[in-house]
Amino acid sequence: MITFQDKKLYIFETAQGLAQSLASEFLLKLIDWQNTREQIHIALSGGKTPLMIFDELAEKHAEGGREPDWNRIHFYWGDERCVPPDSSESNFGQAWDLWLNRIDIPEENIHRIQGENNELLEAKRYSNELKSCLPLKDNIPRFDWIFLGIGDDGHTASIFPNRLNHFDSRNICEYATHPETGQKRITITGKVINNARRISFLVTGSGKKDIVKEILLNEDSARKYPSWHVKPEAGYVEWWLDKEAASNIDSYI
Ligand code: 6PG
Repeated sequence: MITFQDKKLYIFETAQGLAQSLASEFLLKLIDWQNTREQIHIALSGGKTPLMIFDELAEKHAEGGREPDWNRIHFYWGDERCVPPDSSESNFGQAWDLWLNRIDIPEENIHRIQGENNELLEAKRYSNELKSCLPLKDNIPRFDWIFLGIGDDGHTASIFPNRLNHFDSRNICEYATHPETGQKRITITGKVINNARRISFLVTGSGKKDIVKEILLNEDSARKYPSWHVKPEAGYVEWWLDKEAASNIDSYI
């Protein structure tokens, strides 16, 4: 792990190596946190990058012979596409099919965004669910751990550069539209993201190397990216990167 300005970087030779290491860290941390926290609230990210983590976790339920008490773990999503849960586009659906259906977790501990609902009503419903299920800090839901990806345009969750106001929204969740595909989305807002106790970006592939450099080196051009605005109140932002995604920052770290 490298501390770089106000960030923690974990850089791996391969995406597979990243997935294996993060799966172990994830299970160990859940087991550790259960010594001091009654309930643990995790927000999963969507897109393709997390799928390799889900594959690892589907195989490796336990770490060091111990498995988290899934009765005390709650899963949420940082964003969701406005599609049915069984759609191949569903962030919940991917996590469920690859991993969550294989662990012994109560159904009520899986708090999916109901993408099949009306987007405006669902943004409100999910906001209320987060406020009633999570501990609040400054009256904002506080996740124990949020996983995030970065889009090629610098979006994170479903906060897009053309709607940067969603990052600073007073709301807990917003309804968004993907600027290229027009796909309707529900997303948590920046104040929920920055309120989390732990935030981890998962970024792999050479396609992300330019944007990773802009953001990590704090270049002026990065300010237009919602991902740049992820600056938690407390603690670090972690960047879990493979060598390809980190290839433009080699000479700076
Ligand atoms: C989504 C995600 C989105 C994703 C990034 C990166 O619903 O698509 O939440 O924010 O994390 O677009 O996606 P990839 O991992 O596929 O590059």
